[in-house]
Amino acid sequence: MRHFLRDDDLSPGEQSEVLQLAAAMKKDRFGYRPFEGPRTVAVLFDKPSARTRISFHTGIGELGGLPLVVDNVSVLMGRGEPTADLARVLDRQVAAIVWRTSRQELIDEMAAHSRVPVVNALTDAFHPCQILADLQTVHERMGRTAGLTLTYLGDGANNMAHSYLLGGATAGLHVRIAAPAGYQPDAVVFEQAAAIAARTGGSVVALSDPAAAAEGAHVIATDTWVSMGQEGKEARVAALMPYQVNDELLGHAAPDAVVLHCLPAYRGNEITEEVLEGPRSVVWDQAENRLHAQKALLHWLAAHAGPDRAPETA
Ligand code: CP
Ligand code: NVA
Repeated sequence: MRHFLRDDDLSPGEQSEVLQLAAAMKKDRFGYRPFEGPRTVAVLFDKPSARTRISFHTGIGELGGLPLVVDNVSVLMGRGEPTADLARVLDRQVAAIVWRTSRQELIDEMAAHSRVPVVNALTDAFHPCQILADLQTVHERMGRTAGLTLTYLGDGANNMAHSYLLGGATAGLHVRIAAPAGYQPDAVVFEQAAAIAARTGGSVVALSDPAAAAEGAHVIATDTWVSMGQEGKEARVAALMPYQVNDELLGHAAPDAVVLHCLPAYRGNEITEEVLEGPRSVVWDQAENRLHAQKALLHWLAAHAGPDRAPETA
């Protein structure tokens, strides 16, 4: 059974297959119906969401399936039931399980007990679906991903930073993380990304100087400085202000550099209004590509579900 719990659950070749499928599915948006039946896909949220909720709901419908979107998982799990039990109730009925939750261990447990694919729709540690959409967006704009330099500035210890490291290295990107002390990436994830990059021809580096990190970059990326569930907003904003993506910072990047932000954006903190709404910003394409990338991912996972998959009428 194949799951997508973190970015490196897809090999470089598989990630490229999914992204090619995403491009094809974007051109023929209603031409792919793997969940015709309709088969149900569960989409569960333990945290707020706009883009992820909208894109999975829309995408599953476009794939011929029925989205079962549950916004407050306590409706399902509020009685102290283990995740393993929910996995075994769901997998006899649905074609896939998509889950946004806090701890990575929870989604790992869901996957360990599920006979249908489990997809990480964001945890505290990773946001791998977002990186697929980001790679699709970069490829559309630049015509390639391998060999490009992507600089991420801000909270280098959050889910987006970790997913840029793993997913970017998988794509053969040169990933630079610019963050101050105390906001640097998890050392284990960083080493895992370095090992992937050594095989793909990419590279990963963690820096503290924002201007040096942005120098010549083809892609500038940032994310909120206060992720869902985090506290201490004032201290975080003070520490991260030198890493703001603004016109001066962009001046260090390549002249045709594009700017990514997974949204929601906090204008005046991690990014200025001018950059977010300016000519280098591709954030609306990026948000749309969540739809296409996730449809391709679900299609690919369904096709690679393997012999353990629950029978449709189990
Ligand atoms: N980028 C992203 O995942 O947005 P939501 O949190 O609104 O789903
Ligand atoms: N790092 C952010 C991403 C939001 C899509 C968070 O976890 O809140």
